[in-house]
Amino acid sequence: MEKSIEKLFDLTGKVAIVTGGAMGIGKGIAYRLAEAGANIVIVDIVDPKIAKKTLLEINKESNKSIYLQADLRDIKNLSKIIDFTINELGDLNILVNNAGIYNYCAVTELTEELWDNTLNLNLKAVAFLSKLAVNKMIEKKHGGRIINISSIDSIKPTGKLSQYDASKGGVSMLTKAFAKEVGKYGINVNDVAPGGINTPGIRKIAGPHLSLIQIIEMKAQSKQFIKSLPLKRMGEPEDIGNAVLFLASDAANYITGTTLVVDGGFLIM
Ligand SMILES: NC(=O)c1ccc[n+]([C@@H]2O[C@H](COP(=O)([O-])OP(=O)(O)OC[C@H]3O[C@@H](n4cnc5c(N)ncnc54)[C@H](O)[C@@H]3O)[C@@H](O)[C@H]2O)c1
Repeated sequence: MEKSIEKLFDLTGKVAIVTGGAMGIGKGIAYRLAEAGANIVIVDIVDPKIAKKTLLEINKESNKSIYLQADLRDIKNLSKIIDFTINELGDLNILVNNAGIYNYCAVTELTEELWDNTLNLNLKAVAFLSKLAVNKMIEKKHGGRIINISSIDSIKPTGKLSQYDASKGGVSMLTKAFAKEVGKYGINVNDVAPGGINTPGIRKIAGPHLSLIQIIEMKAQSKQFIKSLPLKRMGEPEDIGNAVLFLASDAANYITGTTLVVDGGFLIM
């Protein structure tokens, strides 16, 4: 074997962008990549005070991870993200397109505003940030990794999420399209499709906008959901962080254009 297991997963000296990395799944991803030695630019819309807590957890050892506040729905911000990364950390090796929103809405109630909001963040920002990232990686002549966070909803609609399902289906196909064209530059492109993961975004769904009855109903449904899952638990951000670390590492050198499902067995139910 050419490399030890330790070396395979060593990301020392690599620079990664993680969008939506201030909390939830993105935080789990940033944490794992930083543990493997990468320096991270967390890009998120939240106040720097919230991101500071995440950075404190991530920058434990010699790590130099930093924060950039930006709304990814505005395409003008995307080139600033790449420039900031190069100026502050000197390189770009890994892009993780994680930021995304999921608002429940029946197809009969779908609005143009919800569609545009969702698609601009979940799909358009992924396409154009990836375009800028691969151009930078090609210019630097060192290859790289793009890892998109799609969803089990890109494979099977779970209900009342049509705009989300369309965006995530798009992300999985975009992954394959990019992978096909940029493999020759040493750039691998894959997506991770999470199932139900315990995050602030998921917890917000059972938020104050629901009546007490609706909250009780949702809790019962969620208990039922967990019971029916083959692995009998919700996923944690760390579960997705582990999958992203694998795809970012040399252990995944021959993997591109694929979807890695991390769902506790949801899709085989
Ligand atoms: N949690 C799940 O069960 C689950 C399942 C499948 C897929 N996913 C996907 O995983 C990703 C993360 O989900 P999560 O549950 O951690 O969400 P979350 O809401 O807990 O966190 C999302 C992060 O993205 C940031 N963000 C939101 N809008 C932004 C914008 N316009 N610009 C920049 N940053 C923005 C938020 O501030 C937050 O830090 C999403 O793409 C989601 O679709 C989640």
